[in-house]
Amino acid sequence: LRNSGVRIVEVGPRDGLQNIKSAIPTLTKVELVSRLRNTGLKSIELTSMVSPRAVPQLADGRQLLADREIQGFLQDEEVRHPVLVPNMRGLERAMELGVGEVAVFVSASEGFSRTNINCSVNEGLSRSRQVAQKALEAGLSVRGYVSCIFACPFDGPTSHETVARVVKDLLDMGCYEVSLGDTLGVGSAVDVKSLLGHLQRSGVPIDRLAGHFHDTYGQAVSNVWAAYECGVRVFDSSVAGLGGCPYCPGAKGNAATEDVVFLFDRAGIETGVDLDQLAIVGAWISAELSMANGSRAGAALAAR
Ligand code: HMG
Ligand code: MG
Repeated sequence: LRNSGVRIVEVGPRDGLQNIKSAIPTLTKVELVSRLRNTGLKSIELTSMVSPRAVPQLADGRQLLADREIQGFLQDEEVRHPVLVPNMRGLERAMELGVGEVAVFVSASEGFSRTNINCSVNEGLSRSRQVAQKALEAGLSVRGYVSCIFACPFDGPTSHETVARVVKDLLDMGCYEVSLGDTLGVGSAVDVKSLLGHLQRSGVPIDRLAGHFHDTYGQAVSNVWAAYECGVRVFDSSVAGLGGCPYCPGAKGNAATEDVVFLFDRAGIETGVDLDQLAIVGAWISAELSMANGSRAGAALAAR
């Protein structure tokens, strides 16, 4: 798939929902995962195992994973179902429930690291290393995230050097892939090209990277294409453009999966995702949440 197409990592059930204040029934979350699976998506982040005080919306993470339907999905070796974990406690909980993949997350900036996970960048890296080591020993796969690749809501611009150091550390601890997070959603195509150029020159293998672009300034899809042109073949996105982080004030949703699939469909690049089915899921979850559909392609398709 790497040369002929792209892989989309659907983060709607986790990033998409985590910042929504009103209660969402666990069964609606299960149905969202189930509907997303039926569109052909091969990687769906299910939830997180974090402090319920930090992210109240995902406090039902264990309940979701214990659901019979989700337990069945976890048996499916064709689809990755990562769960976001910040520490050993999160890993243990995920493992108890049969999760086969976890995602560790760190920031490239000190301010966001402190606010989001209450520790420094280096402490976050060493926690992640501990988690990755234990997870790998137990036969799980580990994905890595680095946040604030372009700028931090607290510290301002992030240097390429810092991002490179954190990415290398995540790869070194055994992450099969590192997702580059523009958490604040402030980067544009030139920033993407500049950062990826720097990472390549500093020896980071581009085929181990993914792009995770928030859409605050409307640049997420353009950033996906810029990264594609630099050789990135994995993209995180969220159905209906849902998403945001409670610890990143002002940030908007993720790149909408419908928009990303539309982009690649038009270019003849395989995603494995059925856009019409996906648009139905996007319209459905937007209605369930009483929110406007954040995907332009999804809204256009629904209006046909
Ligand atoms: P802390 O306060 O330093 O740690 O938080 P603590 O060990 O003292 O724990 C605090 C409380 O959380 C305790 O509960 C623990 O039991 C509990 P209390 O005794 O006060 O009632 N706790 C847990 N509960 C469930 N699962 C756990 C767990 N660990 C501790 N695993 C901590 C440190 C990391 C726990 C906290 O800051 C936290 O949970 N942060 C997560 C924040 C978060 O989820 N942010 C959003 C995801 S990151 C993101 O969106 C960016 C991304 O999309 C990429 C991008 O866009 O850039 C990935
Ligand atoms: Mg995010």
